[in-house]
Amino acid sequence: MQLQERKTDLGLAVRPRRLRSSPTMRDMVRETRVNVSGLMQPLFIVSGEGVRAPIVSMPGVARLSVDVAAAEARELHAAGIRSVLLFGIPDFKDAYASSNYDPHGVVQRAVRAIKRVVPEMVVAADLCNCEYTDHGHCGILDAQGDVENDATVELLVRTALTYADAGVDVIAPSDMMDGRVGAIRRALDEAGHSRVSIMAYSAKYASAFYGPFREAADSTPAFGDRRTYQMDPANAREAIREVLLDIDEGADIVMVKPALAYLDVVQRVRDRVTLPLAVYNVSGEYAMVKAAAANGWIDEERVVDELLTSFTRAGADIIITYFAKDYARRNA
Ligand code: PBG
Repeated sequence: MQLQERKTDLGLAVRPRRLRSSPTMRDMVRETRVNVSGLMQPLFIVSGEGVRAPIVSMPGVARLSVDVAAAEARELHAAGIRSVLLFGIPDFKDAYASSNYDPHGVVQRAVRAIKRVVPEMVVAADLCNCEYTDHGHCGILDAQGDVENDATVELLVRTALTYADAGVDVIAPSDMMDGRVGAIRRALDEAGHSRVSIMAYSAKYASAFYGPFREAADSTPAFGDRRTYQMDPANAREAIREVLLDIDEGADIVMVKPALAYLDVVQRVRDRVTLPLAVYNVSGEYAMVKAAAANGWIDEERVVDELLTSFTRAGADIIITYFAKDYARRNA
């Protein structure tokens, strides 16, 4: 076969491979670099002392007691990680998620402990009720068993204030109630917490990729699903609407979640907004990589590098990922 050589208008050969000819050359022309300072490590916090309880479906991830979480924060910081996202798993659950607004709850205590040990660490707290309710839904239920929006927002506000009092830097509402960002912003400002940022889970989809997280956080709904509040995976325009609403309500950072199956949404949001954009590389995405790597079917490090690069390429500034520490260690 005679190769038909591509020519420029001047009749010269076009050779894109020239720019891939050596590692140095490839490095020089690389368009995207993952920002290690933008990686956020999720931490699951439980009560007790000296606890590091592995999560079976998330190899390498464990539930940590407050003291162990503080020690972990120090290690993360040494590895180059600048922020953590806290999830609390309380001992006691009820219909009103009352452990969530306990000033001495696991998240509130973890915030204080981490800030004491590593003051430079940006500490974010996920704000939701599903880990705290006995039915596993993200808020207060109405007579039909659906989550009641406005009563749930009141609950979120109450909890957000206790997180802020504990010294959190970022509050990250992941409940998908309407109007919660504005209500939280107003309450924070009125309470003198104007420096606390809000990272809104703006476009959070009702996804099967949260499976392992629900084992980790013990937050599987006892009945039904989350489709009346989380978004339909089929919708991208609606993501823009949710993002713009949250910005209007005072969000400082907006988020698309999950990441991998929603990169088109990430890119669309990036094209529309100037705010920092976060993606959440969720538990199911983590578990898939870990399971395939454990079987020797993929090369974990290369796959993780490729995934984090793809999030960055799509437009994410902040990547919330269970791979954060490993990645930072390899790329510090
Ligand atoms: C709380 C929350 C969830 C996740 C983050 N915050 C679970 C859910 O909505 O069911 C998922 C994170 C992950 O899968 O890694 N609502």
